[in-house]
Amino acid sequence: MTAKALPAVETAAEWQALAGLAGRVGARHLRELFAEDPGRGRQFVAEACGLYFDFSKQRIDRETLDQLFQLANARGLQARIDALFAGEPVNRSERRPALHMALRAGIGGDFRVAGRAVGSDVQAVLARMQAFAERVRSGDWRGHSGRAIRNVVNIGIGGSDLGPVMAFEALRHYSRPGLAPRFVSNVDGSDFVEATRDLDPAETLFIVCSKTFTTEETLRNAAAARAWCLARLSDPAAIARHFVAVSTNADAVAEFGIDPANMFEFWDWVGGRYSMTSAIGLSTLIAIGSEHFLALLAGFADMDQHFRSAGFAANLPVLHGLLALWNSNFLGAESCVVLPYEHYLHRFPAYLQQLTMESLGKRVRQDGSPLGVHSGPLYWGEPGTNGQHSFYQLLHQGTRAFSCDFIGFAQTLNPLADQHDLLIANLLAQSRALAFGKSADQVRADGVPTALVPHRTFPGNHQSSTLLAERLTPHSLGALVALYEHSVLVQAAVLDINPFDQWGVELGKRLARELAEQIAGSAAAGAGQDSSTNALLERYRAWRRPPA
Ligand code: F6P
Repeated sequence: MTAKALPAVETAAEWQALAGLAGRVGARHLRELFAEDPGRGRQFVAEACGLYFDFSKQRIDRETLDQLFQLANARGLQARIDALFAGEPVNRSERRPALHMALRAGIGGDFRVAGRAVGSDVQAVLARMQAFAERVRSGDWRGHSGRAIRNVVNIGIGGSDLGPVMAFEALRHYSRPGLAPRFVSNVDGSDFVEATRDLDPAETLFIVCSKTFTTEETLRNAAAARAWCLARLSDPAAIARHFVAVSTNADAVAEFGIDPANMFEFWDWVGGRYSMTSAIGLSTLIAIGSEHFLALLAGFADMDQHFRSAGFAANLPVLHGLLALWNSNFLGAESCVVLPYEHYLHRFPAYLQQLTMESLGKRVRQDGSPLGVHSGPLYWGEPGTNGQHSFYQLLHQGTRAFSCDFIGFAQTLNPLADQHDLLIANLLAQSRALAFGKSADQVRADGVPTALVPHRTFPGNHQSSTLLAERLTPHSLGALVALYEHSVLVQAAVLDINPFDQWGVELGKRLARELAEQIAGSAAAGAGQDSSTNALLERYRAWRRPPA
């Protein structure tokens, strides 16, 4: 049964109680909260699926946490989770379920769309992906001229790019040397040209990933790839050996010229940014092989199960999502800084940007009425320790409010003397420095000249969570990503917004089409748009070199 309609969140007594608590708890310093509760660092923690989640450096007390759980209950969070897993059309503006969990549930999964079990479809596509990946990895899948495939290029954008890039980079250690996929997403031709500059088409396989197969950037890059192949292989029959597609749109794939036998299907109940465990993960599977790919799916599935069944107080995505709401709505944190102290996760912040901001960047509720509070924060970040030498200055001594997610692993995949201990020491040092800062008195006690004391003082009281796992593996990566996916659902459920649509990307696409026509056509430059755009167009047309 569909979860019942909700009143605006700001009218809920629990929300108002939190606003009251924010006045009280928010005025206190993390130094005080830690001083008065010596057990805090072991109490405000939760652990599941191999992830240890320390949220003791969040600016909360027990009462805040209880009130957040009460808010979640009042908003019917469990019913919303149940509706998600039951395959109800939780994406109401597009009337679709969001059943990405079915992709990783394995043969035992019982997920249904409109009453129909989808497990066997999922398993059939996965089996085809595995067989295909094995043929490419073993050299059995040959190019048109009989040469083995040595290069895999994924063409896609947004969810058809960011998940695969992030996963490949994160799991590069587990990938097969000599078969590193490359990724082309941008409509800027430099992306394609640089990605293929040193490749031989006879040894190159393109995976064209697009849920809709209508996305301009992807279709343009795929057309460029086809032309690049044909220019060197000189035979249209070559396309069948050098192109495969991942899509929900078989007709458009066929129209493009890719043999539907070389298409890996997924379904409209998988959102683009939730699709990395669908056939969109084909490049990941080719890179890391079946065993590791199945371990990745298992990590996702473990977190799915945990999310579905654990009580809120021990539920990692619930805790994470509620804390995100607390930070952005009650403590004024406009951004969440994602700080992986694991170099392999260097594309994780970019991946999370789409997952969180495309999902939570909404200003109306499910019923179309205005959202009266803030939706999701901005997400950004860089791996540690690199970020420490660029933007951390603002974190430590700037004036903005933010929260941080630190992510670290106890074991390194690449031991290099004691560098890993140093890396993790930096993670711990930064979360400590942000939380506790350094008071003027402490600075003075160090003998710092009076005039410099304000410059050398650190206010602290910047909240963070730390996620620690034993080792970066396919399983731990899956659990980590699923945690964020479900954290998004928690935030959306409490706010009553739809995290599965993205109408906000449409206006820009339409305007770009119009402007592209205006640039290409004979319409007088400097006409028809606003005065700024007209003047820029005029200058662009004066300087541009039309395509040959
Ligand atoms: O631009 C938004 C978007 O629709 C994303 O949500 C999606 O992941 C991306 O474009 C790519 O879409 P497709 O996979 O259909 O090419």
